[in-house]
Amino acid sequence: MMPFVNLTGQREAYREELEAAERAVLDSGCYIGGPEVKALEAELADYCNSGNSDAGKQGSFAGKDRAEPETRAIACASGTDALTIALMALGLKPGDEVIVPDFTFIAPAESVAYLGGIPRFADIDPETLLIDPESVKALIGPKTRGIIGVDLFGQCAPFTELRRIADEHGLWVIEDAAQAFGATAGTQHACTFGDISITSFYPSKPLGCYGDGGALFTQNNELATKIRQIANHGSRERYLHETLGMNSRLDALQAAVLRVKLRHLEEELKVRRENARKYDEFFAEYNAGIRASGGNDGAKIVPQHIEYGCTSTYAQYTVLADDRNSFIAKLDAAGIPHCIHYPQPLHEQPCFRGLAQGCENKNAIMASQKAVSLPVCAFTDVDFIINKLRSVL
Ligand SMILES: Cc1ncc(COP(=O)(O)O)c(C=O)c1O
Repeated sequence: MMPFVNLTGQREAYREELEAAERAVLDSGCYIGGPEVKALEAELADYCNSGNSDAGKQGSFAGKDRAEPETRAIACASGTDALTIALMALGLKPGDEVIVPDFTFIAPAESVAYLGGIPRFADIDPETLLIDPESVKALIGPKTRGIIGVDLFGQCAPFTELRRIADEHGLWVIEDAAQAFGATAGTQHACTFGDISITSFYPSKPLGCYGDGGALFTQNNELATKIRQIANHGSRERYLHETLGMNSRLDALQAAVLRVKLRHLEEELKVRRENARKYDEFFAEYNAGIRASGGNDGAKIVPQHIEYGCTSTYAQYTVLADDRNSFIAKLDAAGIPHCIHYPQPLHEQPCFRGLAQGCENKNAIMASQKAVSLPVCAFTDVDFIINKLRSVL
C-alpha cells in the first residue's frame, strides 16, 4: 500500500546530496550543535525573512508588512520542546491561563499544562478549521497570559485578529507553525507572527528530518537570549546556570539533513499546492454532482478552506466528510491511505478532564467527527489517487 507520506521517495530523489551531507557530519567528529546547526539556524531565519515564495503577490491580505526587525531562529530537540521553551521564556507561571485551539495536536495544550498552566480551549472556524478569534475573546479573564495560534494543516492562523486581541489585553502570542514551515499569509512567512513562533522537524512534517527536531523563532533579542539559555540547561556561560533550563539540542546530523531538504522546500511546496489544487477540483466536481442529481446532500466532502492571500504547506490535505464512515470505507476499498486528524477535540481528552466544564465548542466537535486527511506530499501520485476516488465515490 502506498505510504501516507512518501519519505523513501523523497530520500531517493535527494540521495546523493543527503549521503554527502550525512557523511560529512559523521566524519567531522562534531555531532551536537556546531557549524551545521549554526548554518541551519541562519538559513531558516533567512528563509523566514525573505520573500522567496509567490505569496504576497496576491494582494489584499490585511496582515502587517514584512517582519521588522529580522527574525532569528534557534534549533532545539522537538516541536513540543520548542513550545515548552517558548512558554518558559515568556514567563508562564503555575495557574496562568493560555488560550489554545480545541481542534489540533495535543502539544500546545500539553506544554501549557506541563508547566502548571491552564489551557483554555477556544473553538475553531468551521471552514478554515483555525482558532476563532471571537471564541478567544470570550475566554479572556484575569489569569489569561497569552494565546497560542496553531497553523493547522499548514495554513497560518488569523494572526492579525489574534494580535489585535492580544494587544488590547496585554497578552503575548505564540505561533505554533509545527505543520507550516513555508506557509505564508500576505507578504509574511509562517514563523514570523508570534512573539515567539515554533516549528517541528518531525519526519513527516513539510520540512522534516530523520528523527525529532524543532526550532523557535523570534524578532526580540531578549527573548532570543532567554530561549538559547533555557534550551541549554539555563546556561549562557559554561557551567554557570543562571536559571533552570533543559537539554534541548538539535543533532548536527539532523541539521545537515534539514539543510539539504530546505534547498528543495520551495519546489516541494509548489508540487504540494498543485496536488491540493487537483483534489480541490475533484471534490468541487463531486459535490456539484451530488447537488445536480438531487442526491444525498449529507454526503458532501468539503476541503479545509484556505483564505485568500494565504498559501498552505498542506502538511496534509484535510476534508470534512459528512458521512465519514462511508468515505473511509471507500478509501479502504480503493487502497488509499488516510488519517484522522484529530478524532477528538482536546477538551474531550482524558488528560484534560476537569478543564472541560462548560466547553461547548461545536465546530471543534463537528471537525473531529468529519475530518479525514489524504496524502498530498510532493512524492505522492495524486492523479492516481484521484482516479481511484473517481471509481469509488
Ligand atoms: C500543531 C503541532 N504542534 C506541535 C507539535 C509537536 O511537534 P513534535 O512532534 O516535533 O514535538 C506537532 C506535531 O505533530 C503539531 O502538529
